[in-house]
Amino acid sequence: MDNAPVTLFVCVSCREADTNPEIRPGRLLMDRIAAALEATSETRLVAKSVECLSVCKRPCTIALAAESKWTYVIGDLSRDVHVDEIVAAALRYRESETGIVPWRERPQSFRKGVIARIPPLNK
Ligand code: FES
Repeated sequence: MDNAPVTLFVCVSCREADTNPEIRPGRLLMDRIAAALEATSETRLVAKSVECLSVCKRPCTIALAAESKWTYVIGDLSRDVHVDEIVAAALRYRESETGIVPWRERPQSFRKGVIARIPPLNK
């Protein structure tokens, strides 16, 4: 088990085509993830806002990153149904040695929504 701190980046600028342009689903997703993390005692998983991950056509988008691990970019996430999955997947990512979580252990939203994985810089 690897306990390196994990950063969960959440794009707060993401919009959905069919929602009021004043509403930022990405911001709502960030708020809900932050609340879910606050309800736990997690200190090694931190959610951070980011203005854009350049995957604007697949809202909402997040990225998982940690030292010495692969970085994952995931899209097509819903603020209404995926918050618990995102937090659980981020915790599983944190436990993994390389950041690569076995396919069968990833939530469906991560299997379908994966956009990119980027290798660690220092390995
Ligand atoms: S606005 Fe969210 S990825 Fe660009």
